[in-house]
Amino acid sequence: ITCRVRKPAGYPPGPPGWPVLGNLPSLAQNAHLQLTAWRGTYGDVFSVKMGLQDAVVVSGKDAIREALVRKAEHFSSRPELFLMRRNNHRNGLVMRPYGDQWKVLRRFSTSTLRSCGMGTGIMEDKIILECQHFCTALKEKADQPFDLTHLLHNAVANIICSMAIGKRFEYGDPTFLRLMEMVERAMVLFITAHVINIYPVLRFFPVVGRPYKEWMDLSASVHKCIEDIIPQQQKSQDVSDEANTIVDAFAKSVELNSDSLPDQSLIYLLIDLLGAGTDTAGNTLRWGLLYLVTHPDVQTKVQAELDEVVGRDRPPAVSDKPNLPYTEATIMEMQRIRTVVPLSVPHCTTSDTALLGYDIPAGTDVLINLWSLHMDPGSWDNPDKFDPSRFLDGNGQLQTNDSFMPFSTGRRVCLGEQLAKMELFLFLTNMLQQFTFTLPEGARPNFDGVLGVTLRPHPYELLAVKRG
Ligand code: HEM
Repeated sequence: ITCRVRKPAGYPPGPPGWPVLGNLPSLAQNAHLQLTAWRGTYGDVFSVKMGLQDAVVVSGKDAIREALVRKAEHFSSRPELFLMRRNNHRNGLVMRPYGDQWKVLRRFSTSTLRSCGMGTGIMEDKIILECQHFCTALKEKADQPFDLTHLLHNAVANIICSMAIGKRFEYGDPTFLRLMEMVERAMVLFITAHVINIYPVLRFFPVVGRPYKEWMDLSASVHKCIEDIIPQQQKSQDVSDEANTIVDAFAKSVELNSDSLPDQSLIYLLIDLLGAGTDTAGNTLRWGLLYLVTHPDVQTKVQAELDEVVGRDRPPAVSDKPNLPYTEATIMEMQRIRTVVPLSVPHCTTSDTALLGYDIPAGTDVLINLWSLHMDPGSWDNPDKFDPSRFLDGNGQLQTNDSFMPFSTGRRVCLGEQLAKMELFLFLTNMLQQFTFTLPEGARPNFDGVLGVTLRPHPYELLAVKRG
């Protein structure tokens, strides 16, 4: 488990907690909201006790930048969580501790995603093709209430699969559906079973130990499933061929020993990319649609802008982006109002350090509160209001806000940021070009969300009405 550290005199203050449990009872549900409320009392850097484990919570744009950018060497590791150690997941990229092996794997992943088309027209073509499949599937559901979670997650996951293994899966493919369900469940279990990270001994107890067993079974099943979907011929790639999937590139790199990639990292890297890339983008789009059906004026404005700039005869393209400021602002507002990774991925200090005058020892868990950043009344007028125009200047041109960081910042900034932005743009514009979305009669939208690693909307149904 994470090393327990001695607290220095200048350690940040924090809310009082219970003996043994610390602040865990207050954080059991909607931790992002409680941590945001405590920021009001204790400031931008404060401490909490997760059972016997200390963590420091960082909020506000200045403190976050100071930690993740200016003091990146000190704040860029990941906690050594028991659950991750047991399922070997520290072999991947997301939970790998900061250091040379992480750097090698991150460099490899970035350059491979680029050579597989990230940020280029190749990627755009793949996403547009997937959007077409997706809209065809939507047409079949037109005019009847339905929950598009599986369809959307399947479509988004297909983008990663096409880059990873050069293949997409038909919607409804039972193996792929099962894989998606498992990835989704793992995001929730990571939080439900967190208590085992703090008290590993609890895994031997009958009821509290159950999530641990489920976690281990699930990890094994996901591992096996990914292993099975890697095409055999790609497992032994001919080094002379141009690599156009992540699996090819990995095989080639190992063969040439060009990168000294960490052992066994391929499967874990693929699980990471699928997990990090599906739940995030899928849930952002689901939140976005929920806000659009409850704010039809915004939906109409986006459609009007699309009609004027793109028309209906061709699919929207990335090159249209500069001419679609309202649409872009709407996507940014979707990402702001429901931060889909509200507490980022946990960080950990690598050495004794200081932040805003507080002393923080090496090995302290650090939670970056992106939710509070996006809901900060000091940075946003009426932060609870869904209002894309906050991202536009007086001339209707896009303007950013330096408190907007849905992908975090610094060395561990989201690896898939470029890909995700392209996906959000192309999926949303393709959907709104072809359909108008509404809520079924009597539906009561719920904006609270369910917190796992990601914040997902409660299941909901909508109607997709084909535009005339
Ligand atoms: C990490 C957000 C999509 C791959 C992260 C982090 C955030 C984030 C907040 C944590 C950064 C930190 O630790 O400070 C998002 C959002 C997405 C999205 C909001 C979509 C809307 C994707 C996609 C991919 C991806 C499509 C796939 C290529 C990763 C990876 C990491 C990461 C591999 C870990 C990086 C590392 O530890 O070095 N993402 N992400 N993400 N994301 Fe994303």
